[in-house]
Amino acid sequence: MLTKAIEWLGDRVKILDQTQLPREEVYLELSHYQDIASAIIAMKIRGAPAIGIAGAYGVALGALKIESVARDEFLDKLRVITQNLAATRPTAKNLFWAIDRMQQVAQTGKDVGQIKKALVAEAVKIHAEEAEATRRLSQLGAELIRDGSTILTHCNTGPLATAGYGTALGVIIRAQAQGKRIKVLATETRPLLQGARLTAWELKKASVPFTLITDSMAGYFMERGEVDYVIVGADRIAQNGDTANKIGTYSLAVLARENDVPFYVAAPTTTIDLSLASGDKILIEQRSPAEVTHIQEVSLAPEGTQAANPAFDVTPHRYITAIITERGIVKEPYIDSLEAILLTTN
Ligand code: MRU
Repeated sequence: MLTKAIEWLGDRVKILDQTQLPREEVYLELSHYQDIASAIIAMKIRGAPAIGIAGAYGVALGALKIESVARDEFLDKLRVITQNLAATRPTAKNLFWAIDRMQQVAQTGKDVGQIKKALVAEAVKIHAEEAEATRRLSQLGAELIRDGSTILTHCNTGPLATAGYGTALGVIIRAQAQGKRIKVLATETRPLLQGARLTAWELKKASVPFTLITDSMAGYFMERGEVDYVIVGADRIAQNGDTANKIGTYSLAVLARENDVPFYVAAPTTTIDLSLASGDKILIEQRSPAEVTHIQEVSLAPEGTQAANPAFDVTPHRYITAIITERGIVKEPYIDSLEAILLTTN
């Protein structure tokens, strides 16, 4: 059974609070769009596809609460809601894609009652389509994996991060479901430990054999020939294939190249941003230094220590063996193949 990271309950949204995992499975019911925005900022819900879906439900919740019946006044208020949701986290394309799609639906509605209904239906549709996209890309990606492989993955990219089947972790879980013997090296993923807390939890649930390693152990295992593939997710993929993903991904890609290990990125097409020519245009979220100086409120560094906390880095396209999407697997030259894949219909 897939974990339900996000569930629409008709007039509220139920989420599994990812900050409490793996200690406790705490579900929260959120009725206001501001609660969704706060949950995204606090990373109670996280992962690029999941925050896109949460953002869409946030727009729907916000719309349902607007009391104005005049269309223009309603749309003005809706714009404030979408701006607040868009201001939560800057890097993942999926959030902005979902909010834009909701805005377009609102613009085409004739009256407020109809727009509200259409927005709820659109958010539910976005969720279903995104879940289906991750199911398909997991299936396609799994075909690439040889029986008996060890796969290194970073951060958390499973059902929790996608409110669907997963991206990189979806590929891994699907490969095992195809009967292949798979082992995983999961990086802990400092500073917020999505690997240790969430990927380990999901792999255990899926009965995939795994070993947890610190981020700095990746080179040790690759150099010894103990890694057959690196597979990661993505938060935003630029037109030329440069890919923003969790901090530390770039280092893994360089190590993979040095050690002749194929490096795959798995993402739904909603993560692709053709409006940005290259990765240097991707806005990287800078989070609180306290996430580096502390682990779950326990201080690690002397008081007053300065710390940097970029949440993502950009892997240049030349390190990426292929990008696995629900519409197909694309390779260099990404500048052509990404555009072509977006033009194909499902
Ligand atoms: O900061 P997070 O935990 O939201 O970052 C998540 C990642 O970087 C994932 O690898 C990414 O969203 C792609 S997979 C679903």
